[in-house]
Amino acid sequence: MTTKVILDCDTGCDDTLAILYAALHPEIELLAIGAVWGNVPVATAAVNSAHTVAMVGRSDIPVASGTAGPLLRGPENFGYHVHGIDGQGNVGDPSFVATLVEESAADQIIRLALEHPGEIELIAVGPFTNLAVALALRPDLPSLLRGVTIMGGAALAPGNRTPVAEANIIHDPEAAAAVFAAPWRLRMVGLDVTMRTLMTEAQRQQLLDGGTISAYAGRVMRFYMDYFTENAFSERLSCIHDVLAVAIGVGTLIPTLAPTVNAWVDTGNGPGRGQTICDLRGRYMGFPDQEGAHCQVVLESDPLFAQAVVDLLVAAGDSAIPLGAAA
Ligand code: BDR
Ligand code: CA
Repeated sequence: MTTKVILDCDTGCDDTLAILYAALHPEIELLAIGAVWGNVPVATAAVNSAHTVAMVGRSDIPVASGTAGPLLRGPENFGYHVHGIDGQGNVGDPSFVATLVEESAADQIIRLALEHPGEIELIAVGPFTNLAVALALRPDLPSLLRGVTIMGGAALAPGNRTPVAEANIIHDPEAAAAVFAAPWRLRMVGLDVTMRTLMTEAQRQQLLDGGTISAYAGRVMRFYMDYFTENAFSERLSCIHDVLAVAIGVGTLIPTLAPTVNAWVDTGNGPGRGQTICDLRGRYMGFPDQEGAHCQVVLESDPLFAQAVVDLLVAAGDSAIPLGAAA
């Protein structure tokens, strides 16, 4: 059994792991990728996504370019300090030329949803601007998808961009609010689990010691791990946020605690802007049903999941394209 997936990403370091996992995992049929602004400008995200699928010999997976900034304001700060100027930890191949499809990321989502009604898991791991545009164009989109899984938000954990807001949400809170309000089965894979599911330096070394695909990923993750070492963990550990959303979205990683509750995004202009407000008041009663709830908030999952990612990438062998300056 495979799950059909569309991945929407702002391809920085952890997005690259997510694409590799989705393209390589035998239980995932990666139909297409949409690029969105966020960690890097949308054009860079698109090139990085195309480069990643080319490495694994899957240039047949279409990559569509999407929105260049949030719904309401001009582009905000990109995440160069986290992902490198190229979104690949400064070890990407600047000579790579990407071939993108002509349709927009939002149009691609709609077309594929119409072609495969009820079958596709839409997994979004960047700002949610493309999803909001697709929803505005096609309000019946929720009925055409299997569900939506996002990397974003923080239910009980602190934020990573403000005291309460996670990056993908705060980048475009109005878009995120539309995604939380839409009547689809939404799965929120947020900082509650992604700050606790880490790659170690020893695992990064395993990537470096594998074929040229995993070695590339290991080099990309160096810059990212430097960031988390300095800013979060004080030891050689890195988040792998986005790949967690892919695995939970398709069911190759089953959360151990993930209640379905009502959830909203704060779009006000106060200190709560971008916060995901999840109604977890049922915690002490085993999370009884809530009327109208359609957001599954992942609170706990296997903290050692990174090894499964490392093993998959190491087994992938060598790149189908020369890695140029990055080799
Ligand atoms: C999220 O923000 C981006 O920097 C990462 O790629 C991830 O999707 C984590 O907050
Ligand atoms: Ca991302």
